[in-house]
Amino acid sequence: MMFDALPLKDGIGAEIRTDAETLLTTDIAAKVRRLLIERGVLVFRKLALTDEQQVTLANLMGSLRQEGEKGIYKITLDKNANERRDYLKGSFLWHIDGTHDDVPPFASLLTGITLSQTGGQTEFANSYGAFEELPQQMKDRISGLRVVHSVEVSMRRADIEPTEANISFWRRFPDKTHNLVWTHTSGRKSLVIGCHASHIDGMEKAAGEKLLQELLEWTTQSRFVYRHEWTPGDLVIWDNTGVLHRVEPYPLDCGRMMHRTTLLGEEAFA
Ligand SMILES: [Fe+2]
Repeated sequence: MMFDALPLKDGIGAEIRTDAETLLTTDIAAKVRRLLIERGVLVFRKLALTDEQQVTLANLMGSLRQEGEKGIYKITLDKNANERRDYLKGSFLWHIDGTHDDVPPFASLLTGITLSQTGGQTEFANSYGAFEELPQQMKDRISGLRVVHSVEVSMRRADIEPTEANISFWRRFPDKTHNLVWTHTSGRKSLVIGCHASHIDGMEKAAGEKLLQELLEWTTQSRFVYRHEWTPGDLVIWDNTGVLHRVEPYPLDCGRMMHRTTLLGEEAFA
């Protein structure tokens, strides 16, 4: 049995050193879940879990979202493998998954299978920490504000071609309005921002966009960000309820392939 957790940076992340056999036990998975909530992102270098082991870990940590093949969703821009690859290009911008829903996914587990020669590294920004360290004046200014989130706005910002088919797909997701500051049942607070944050409800549009941009820049400054440089077999888990993420652009046809497992949300935006 081997288990060690080392912080990656002060403001975000931990590297877990363990082996699959140790990890896939109830007690250790519960410990990993606690560390995830505490640190935002967990990295397991070259753990090389099989799909089945990844799904087992997900089930030990929460409730698996049924997607892809038996819970494994294959992330790739290869058009032979993914007919919705345009949509995935939205992940090149900072975002939170699931802002078009009331309850966003709790966490995602991602294993690197085939990497790109260029780009494709993933960055994570801790919005719990970013909120905590905002000047009090800004905390007061943004408390009570509500933000309109739009899939269409995020896709246009990601420069995805607004074809008729794309637009009609984007519009299948109605806009959602969430509090800018999410107070979780734990009492912790995070910021609900990203490329999908269109504008602030009831505020002049340009002023709202400027404020959202300012908060995004604050949250994605180096001290709150962990950048993961992938090696095949790495497993990365992030808490989607408080951590923004993005992937550095990579060539569409480079064959990059990641296996993702998603844990269902346990708490609505509030
Ligand atoms: Fe994402």
